[in-house]
Amino acid sequence: MEQPIPILDLAAQYERIRSEIEPVVLRVLESGRYIGGDECRGFEQEFAAYCGVAHACGVANGTDALTVCLRAYDIGPGDDVVTVANTYVATAEAILLNGARPVFVDVEPETGTMDPRRLADAITPKTKLILPVHLYGHPADMTAIREIAERHGLPVLEDAAQAHGATLQGRRVGALGHSACFSFYPSKNLGAFGDAGMVTSGDRDFIDRVRCIANHGTTTQRYEHSVVGTNSRLDAVQAAVLRVKLRHLDGWIEARRGHAQAYSAALAGIPALSPPSERPGCRSSWYLYTLRAQDRDGLQAHLARCGIATAVHYPKPLHRQQALAQVPPSGELPVSERLCHQVLSIPLYPELPEEWRDRVARETRAFYAA
Ligand SMILES: Cc1ncc(COP(=O)(O)O)c(C=O)c1O
Repeated sequence: MEQPIPILDLAAQYERIRSEIEPVVLRVLESGRYIGGDECRGFEQEFAAYCGVAHACGVANGTDALTVCLRAYDIGPGDDVVTVANTYVATAEAILLNGARPVFVDVEPETGTMDPRRLADAITPKTKLILPVHLYGHPADMTAIREIAERHGLPVLEDAAQAHGATLQGRRVGALGHSACFSFYPSKNLGAFGDAGMVTSGDRDFIDRVRCIANHGTTTQRYEHSVVGTNSRLDAVQAAVLRVKLRHLDGWIEARRGHAQAYSAALAGIPALSPPSERPGCRSSWYLYTLRAQDRDGLQAHLARCGIATAVHYPKPLHRQQALAQVPPSGELPVSERLCHQVLSIPLYPELPEEWRDRVARETRAFYAA
């Protein structure tokens, strides 16, 4: 059997940047400052500048970024947040952990992101916020979503956990809504060596509120707590690592784009397959390369027999999850339901060897030629 192909290889990335990473980690270890401090402030400033937004606050992970952010909007029991059902569970968890209700709208089949044509109907007097997800690295249609949000006087919070560096009309995600949440989970395009997250916003007061809640409701004075907060702070080691990796992010996204283009060229013209595409004006950060495939399970089994790892993002829409059984139903979500049976992510990471990528494409074509 040929060598197995993983869906992702974080050790390969580490090998390439080891000489840049190890000194900065040691620097933090020797500094005696392990939470907050210069590394964290430095990373917040650099990441905010990268996104093209004025302010950022580091937190412990992407789920906390969303949860704390929603608290900073004062969202709680009796409030609705409009979002999507085909996303990682954390998007809805953050809403539910604040006692609010997620209201799901359907998504565009091509990108899996919130369909703005479904949005207006989901908005009621209970709606407090709109939470689109930039799925697989592709920006949601923020122009249309913001227009509807502005008409209703609602803030838009971007779930940008999967999309660092993606752009819409040349502007990066993180600067497209009133605020945005990022995850630096290790597998993300910009990933830590553990958990980490970030909230970005152009609104200084808002970021101050996020920072206060994420640090036990502490005001500027130590041991003064203005609200009940939580412990969700960024580690200095993670911040130091992320500062190094941020310098590589655009290059990594370009490498991902190159692989994505090669896959799309190699997989064109197969009636049973729809390769992912970019909406005009958008540049995906290609966090995932997710096909829509007829007989998806057959294709996945075939690739597994060929030693090629794949994954389904996501096999069940959130409104079908047991954890959300008590949530009152939203409207019909036919596209979200259908996508769960069609989607398949194939190996994509900057260091993916070209021969492996070509083998994945060849075996995928072979399945449908049989
Ligand atoms: C869309 C989305 N939102 C939120 C999160 C939560 O991020 P974290 O795993 O850092 O808590 C993730 C992480 O995988 C995600 O993919």
